[in-house]
Amino acid sequence: MKKKNLVVLTGAGVSAESGISTFRDSNGLWENYRVEDVASIDGWYRNPGLMLDFYNTRRKELGTVKPNAAHLAIAGLEDRYNVTVVTQNVDNLHERAGSTRIIHLHGELTKVRPEDRYNDRDNFSEETVFDIGHGEIHIGDLAADGAQLRPHIVWFGEPVPKIEQAINAVEKADIMLIVGTSLQVYPAAGLYRFAGNSTPIYIIDPKDVPVADPRITHIREVATKGMEEFENILKSKESDYLCSHK
Ligand code: APR
Repeated sequence: MKKKNLVVLTGAGVSAESGISTFRDSNGLWENYRVEDVASIDGWYRNPGLMLDFYNTRRKELGTVKPNAAHLAIAGLEDRYNVTVVTQNVDNLHERAGSTRIIHLHGELTKVRPEDRYNDRDNFSEETVFDIGHGEIHIGDLAADGAQLRPHIVWFGEPVPKIEQAINAVEKADIMLIVGTSLQVYPAAGLYRFAGNSTPIYIIDPKDVPVADPRITHIREVATKGMEEFENILKSKESDYLCSHK
């Protein structure tokens, strides 16, 4: 019996209950740092040391938190659905919760790669990317080719290499779930538009969402509570959601 395709787009809100700050809530990351200084390619050329410190701090914090019930519930859906997680988050909590198909649109906090000052940045080769766990990198930490190591993060002003892969997944989705994103940052924020005209879209967020679309049902809850409600909706519709008789 072929499992239905479920695409789950997540943002910082899915990790909020694990204790990781979001970006745009009160006391969020962007209230304490200027985005252009710590998360943009221009910031890297202006002051790479400041940016390395910013990501070293967040990487160390990642070692002190763990997946919450929402991450675990999303991973658990793989029993009954063909799940693709498309996340804007750079934490590894979906992996640690057990999700097996994850597209990191904005990179991965535990990974680093040689900076690529002179070529087209979005064609870096994946084999030069490696995982340093919760470690640190500093100015002078060089890759084998002598280039400065940088976080494997997509900064503002850089291309989003995995967006095509994400669009393909959304186009094939039978159901789409969006958890914990303010839908302010493109191209991630526009992904839901690629879902089919009859594809139901559920959004879990305790606040208002800036989109109006007849396919959308807003579950106005925090991620852990919202996932319980989403599971109940799936169960109530399981007969037509679970398997395709075609
Ligand atoms: N459960 C669910 N949603 C929550 C929770 C929670 N406990 N707490 C907050 N939220 C919601 C907020 O209401 C908001 O809609 O999560 C969303 C967080 O929005 P942002 O802080 O803007 O985070 P995100 O949408 O992931 O940002 C997108 O912006 O700065 C860049 O690259 C960065 O990937 C990030 C991108």
